[in-house]
Amino acid sequence: MAFGNYLDSRVSAVVGTHTHVATSDEKILSGGTAYITDVGMTGAADSIAGVDAEMVIKQYLTMKPTMWKGAVGEPEINAVVVDIDEKTGKAYDIFRLKRRLTGNVIQISAEPRLFTKFLGNVVRLDSLNSVARYLMSYLQKKTNIKNIAFIERDCYQTIARYSSIEPEALEKIKEELHTDPETGKRFFKDYFIMTYRDIENPELYYSIVFKTNRKVKFDKMLIEIFRSLYSKLRKEKLLIQTNDELSILYEVGKEIATTIELHGEDGLINKIMEATTKVMNCESSSVMMIDERTQELYFIVGIGEKGDKIKEVRLKKGQGIAGWVVETGRAAVVPDTSKDKRFFKDADDHTKYNTRSLIAVPLKSKGKVIGVLEVLNRKGEILFNEHDLYMLEAIAQQAANAIDNAKLYDRIKFLYRSTVEVLANAMDSKDAYTHGHSRRVAAYTVDIATEMGMNPVQVSDLEIAALLHDIGKIGIRDSILCKPGRLTHDEYDIIKTHPVISGKILEPVDFLKSLIPVIRHHHERFDGAGYPDNLSGDKIPLGARIIAVADTFDAMTSDRAYRKGLPPDVAKQELLDNSGTQFDPNIVQIFIDIFDRKYKDNFEEIKSKFASQEKILKDFLGQ
Ligand SMILES: [Fe+2]
Ligand SMILES: [Fe+2]
Repeated sequence: MAFGNYLDSRVSAVVGTHTHVATSDEKILSGGTAYITDVGMTGAADSIAGVDAEMVIKQYLTMKPTMWKGAVGEPEINAVVVDIDEKTGKAYDIFRLKRRLTGNVIQISAEPRLFTKFLGNVVRLDSLNSVARYLMSYLQKKTNIKNIAFIERDCYQTIARYSSIEPEALEKIKEELHTDPETGKRFFKDYFIMTYRDIENPELYYSIVFKTNRKVKFDKMLIEIFRSLYSKLRKEKLLIQTNDELSILYEVGKEIATTIELHGEDGLINKIMEATTKVMNCESSSVMMIDERTQELYFIVGIGEKGDKIKEVRLKKGQGIAGWVVETGRAAVVPDTSKDKRFFKDADDHTKYNTRSLIAVPLKSKGKVIGVLEVLNRKGEILFNEHDLYMLEAIAQQAANAIDNAKLYDRIKFLYRSTVEVLANAMDSKDAYTHGHSRRVAAYTVDIATEMGMNPVQVSDLEIAALLHDIGKIGIRDSILCKPGRLTHDEYDIIKTHPVISGKILEPVDFLKSLIPVIRHHHERFDGAGYPDNLSGDKIPLGARIIAVADTFDAMTSDRAYRKGLPPDVAKQELLDNSGTQFDPNIVQIFIDIFDRKYKDNFEEIKSKFASQEKILKDFLGQ
């Protein structure tokens, strides 16, 4: 500490490290030097200074020398980040980073990892992770050589009786391991290939012999060869699972851009998870949310074979790996569930699914865990690794944002719809003849649009257009609009201005602009004899053609102050008689089918349902 204080203002940072556990005294000294006595080290977290705790305690209690062994278990990484002013070199902030790694670091590494053991005169490849194992089997398959050994020169000379290698096999290995694709560096000068026969094991080996006898250099070279082979395979897209960040972010981003609905089959979360399952090359995936009331986890999305079945499962607080993720707020990479105590088998028993491996990451909104996102059972030879974890964490962030946005969107949509409905009601109550007209036209329009296969966003837009189609009638004098008898020619001309006025009213409202053509043309006729623009056939926007059918049908069947509405069968016949002249024949047919299926048997009920809602509003307004 004296040393650190002595260097204050002379250097930017003094970072000490000695014990395994960091001494949290990070601070900025008065002269602008960042200081910490002990940044901590990296290694097994449950230990005494990196040593197996039991052994140290034993020695402490007995005061007898004990054999110490390095601790194993979940490792922790300790570090500090120092913010330094570029101009003055003075530090202005220091903070500690501490990350507990989940699972076995070697096993979950996204890079090839392995250790070599020099056992007497035999070099053994030890602790290969799944990436390294994959590369070994790739080499064997590609070269048709079952036994590939990596041998250090001295070992080679003592154990081998060598003969010449077959030229063909040599070429194949050269092809695979010749140069580093990133640096273009030739590996070949550092090793050569020979065959040998193990004295104890008479099988023929092809060996890659390194021109070194130093273990450190040997290991480094070996790792370098594996890495270079791996990056070559990834570049050539030879690996089934590509881990291509861009492709997944593209897929997910595309969904976010085009999908508004959050839940359901076509909902955003479902689409994000479908893309994730595909790009992560796994069998299935799921999203769980926390039930605020019971603190249980329930499934909102299940992609894959047992996707529907899993939705019947609820996890109690702290149960399973997902429960652990919620409690700790940390992610879990589990390359092998059978070796993980946290794994909860009951969910698998219920769904008859066999979860072999998984990654689970927390879904966080405003720093709070709101759910868990999981991918299950990696396909192919390479197990789930830390690279997948980082990808999934990025996806979870996107999903959490989408959930936040969708909640906001739902609320805005609700407010927007209510406003439009109040407006439509106010308008309908102005026109004494047409109680509930707009709502009924909207209901028929939604039915037709859905039947015609429009997507939910298009249907919802059209519904708003239908609710507002006659809004222009607000601009027409009551004496004309509410006149009980026949209209004069001039009066009728004034009524005919309402679609244009509707358009003008909506023009200043940005998000309603796209609906204007549909509303403006709802009185056009299919044969071109309508108003205001005499459009015909396909020139009339599809939405306007739909509303025209719904509008006329409702106008005919509605009761008016001075007459009962026509019976639906008569109105239907009217539509058919004018099909092809006034109306789009296709839409008439679709509407009649829907009517017979859905409204025929309870028509009076439907008519009065909308009218009564409007009456409440009218009473409220004191009209
Ligand atoms: Fe109209
Ligand atoms: Fe109308």
